Amino acid sequence: MLKINTQNTQSFFSQEEYKQMTINALNAHIQLTSKNGKGSEFLGWLDLPIQLTTEFLQKIKSSAHHLASVSEIIVVTGIGGSYLGARAVIEALGNNLLYLQDTKKRPLVIYAGHNISEDYLSDLLQLLDQKDYSVVIISKSGTTTEPALAFRILKAHCEKKYGKTAAASRIIAITDEEKGALLSLSKSEGYPTYVIPDDVGGRFSVLTPVGLLPIAAAGFDIDALVKGAQDMRELCFNTSSVEKNAAMQYAIVRNLLYQKGFNTEILANYQPTLVYFSEWWKQLYGESEGKENKGIFPASVTFSSDLHSMGQYIQQGERHLFETMLWVDKSNTKVAIPHDVNNIDGLNFLADKSIHEINKNAFLGTTLAHVDGGVPVIHLTIPQLSAYYIGQLIYFYEFACALSGYMIDVNPFDQPGVEEYKKNMFALLGKPGYEELNAELTNRLK
Ligand code: PA5
Repeated sequence: MLKINTQNTQSFFSQEEYKQMTINALNAHIQLTSKNGKGSEFLGWLDLPIQLTTEFLQKIKSSAHHLASVSEIIVVTGIGGSYLGARAVIEALGNNLLYLQDTKKRPLVIYAGHNISEDYLSDLLQLLDQKDYSVVIISKSGTTTEPALAFRILKAHCEKKYGKTAAASRIIAITDEEKGALLSLSKSEGYPTYVIPDDVGGRFSVLTPVGLLPIAAAGFDIDALVKGAQDMRELCFNTSSVEKNAAMQYAIVRNLLYQKGFNTEILANYQPTLVYFSEWWKQLYGESEGKENKGIFPASVTFSSDLHSMGQYIQQGERHLFETMLWVDKSNTKVAIPHDVNNIDGLNFLADKSIHEINKNAFLGTTLAHVDGGVPVIHLTIPQLSAYYIGQLIYFYEFACALSGYMIDVNPFDQPGVEEYKKNMFALLGKPGYEELNAELTNRLK
């Protein structure tokens, strides 16, 4: 089971302060589980792990199998919550050198619609010229510019390559049940569709078809993923005893630290395959808490790589940081360290150890160094990188995020701030209806 250890934060607050914050967390837990807090119309994610039926998961697996059987490449097209969850899980569970995978043996999932780079799209189209592929287009609103634009280009490419009818059998859309341009397009083109439930927001949607279909298509075990989330739900949702509830402990400590001026949380991992898990986490926490001039700023590092860059700042820069170190207790594979008779590199003292043991000592040594440097450090440990434990982590982080949001009295389920740039972009591009703003912005840019 996922474990939390907050021992290395305890010198940064008093027991009395911890008690006070515990009351705050218990209130948030009641609000969340009785579903009467802010944004309660978006709490569908809370029960997903116990609502997903075997039949539904089987249907997802069949669609995934179909895509995988006709594709060397599956292009998952979406942005933000409609893309990061799938990528986080696929990369966490995948081979470190995924991009060198033999796509004839197993399809590779790649991404589109998460940027507006012409060069990215051009590189993608060049690759798709040479490979058999299919597309999963994901947009809850069905109107987000980045994925809609990428999909228009991919659709045209796919139809040119395979013909209109065959192209339609290589495209699956995941969108709202009733509205949006993507739904209308899917109906008119005959694409199979999956629904993103109304009561699940983008960044909480990884356990809906948004995450499950791409993850299954990449060849990973979605039953185990859901089971992990289910077991974590039991611990987070059904347990109001703080000692047993890791999500409550996490929410309490990070909010205590925030109160003490530690306004940046760095998620540190020790596995390069977790980089996108951190990206998913950053979106989840940044978009949920960062509003009304409040919220801990979520940042991330990958150790030991970043100990040789950001490590300097963490050790000795401004003291407004705390770290949550995500440690995976066991490696999935083994690499022997050879003994060398000449020992010119002086590394024979490591020859009887595993690489993972060396990594573990980097983790422990870094913890002590950072604590000595004035950085509170939370430890989260999962036994292994597997679909089951990633499922646990997902539900743990989602639940703790909702609690934390309620504890700083914001609505963790809206994102009013993400609209601002869109208005400006549309105005600058001359979208009909934005004429006044266009004049104002053009003037400002002179
Ligand atoms: O978490 C969110 O709500 C956002 O990140 C959305 O997922 C993102 O903006 C994409 O939206 P949509 O799925 O409507 O295209």
